[in-house]
Amino acid sequence: MAELLCVVGARPNFMKMAPILEALRAYPALRPLLIHTGQHYDEAMSRVFFTELGLPTPDRNLEIGSGAHARQTARIMEAFDALLDERRNARLVLVVGDVNSTMACALVAAKRNVKVAHVEAGLRSRDRAMPEEINRLVTDVVSDLLFATSSDAVENLVAEGIARDKIHLVGNTMIDTVQRHLAAARARNPAGRFGLTRGGYGVVTLHRPSNVDDPAGLRGILDALRAVGTRLPLLFPVHPRTRERIAGIGFIAPAALVLCEPLGYLDFLGLMDSARLVITDSGGIQEETTALGVPCMTLRANTERPITITEGTNQLLGDDPAAILPAVDALLRDGPGPPRRPALWDGRAGERISEVLARKLGVG
Ligand code: UD1
Repeated sequence: MAELLCVVGARPNFMKMAPILEALRAYPALRPLLIHTGQHYDEAMSRVFFTELGLPTPDRNLEIGSGAHARQTARIMEAFDALLDERRNARLVLVVGDVNSTMACALVAAKRNVKVAHVEAGLRSRDRAMPEEINRLVTDVVSDLLFATSSDAVENLVAEGIARDKIHLVGNTMIDTVQRHLAAARARNPAGRFGLTRGGYGVVTLHRPSNVDDPAGLRGILDALRAVGTRLPLLFPVHPRTRERIAGIGFIAPAALVLCEPLGYLDFLGLMDSARLVITDSGGIQEETTALGVPCMTLRANTERPITITEGTNQLLGDDPAAILPAVDALLRDGPGPPRRPALWDGRAGERISEVLARKLGVG
């Protein structure tokens, strides 16, 4: 039996890991253990995803919780190091995405000479003010196996000097999860439960420190969303950090901008699927909207996922909120472009990853 430690920590990790665990079942000689660092911990940010995605209960929860970056990362590293003391036979640590848990566990494993595999390797925003960019760079440089979602990511890795034979272009496990759960998401009719109709509303998410931590900047975005609400009602499931910041500036939302609690995976997927447009600063949502063929407006100056622009439905609006209303007006006037989907975003990335893992661990 070859033991693999599969690490998840925060909300965007769960849907990336689920299809890999499912596909690994085809290799009984591989024994995946699911490790949750506990970076995200509450019902809405973590538990609901386990239930809805059919993820197994983690074999271990390190229960790290929130904290400043250095402290959170250090606590994950200590706890994961202690776990590796116990799991001396572990052959490989599999990490996904770009959150602090991803980098922390990759670094610990690499220093102990345990092989590291990174799913979603090679994405680069080239903006080192983003904590995720630091996490991506560090994780990739210490990884032995790099699984890329798109060819631009492969090019980034090669340009950074990473050996070509460590890199595998496998597609996007987040899109595997979209495909698996889309019918169930639609059946729940989440839009109807919010009193909205297909194509008759927009969805908003915001949580990046660069958008929500500065009160004047956040107010500018919320005022722009208020203006968009005069054209199209908006539903805004609010991340806990954003809720705190919105309360801090005393913003009162108009009726056409509905703020709600963070949603589970299925409801959020169903809401995106029937939205006219999505306005976001998330990374994963840029990919999910591309897979769904729903127009996405990204409130950032850069993206580590340029393929969602060149071969998808995404557009970058930059960091000036003045760009939001004209972009919405243009979309409402001109309609969406034709739906397109990047190569290998076909629902089978988890299988491809498992096949490579099995081969590299000598059981395939
Ligand atoms: C983290 C990831 C980010 C990802 C995002 C998705 C890093 C560097 N950032 O940012 O890449 O896009 O998750 O959500 O890893 N909180 C809760 N309940 C929870 C978790 C957090 O209420 O279960 C609150 C806490 O007040 C916490 C704040 O949310 O301080 C921020 O959480 P944190 O995990 O530090 O970062 P995110 O902004 O969520």
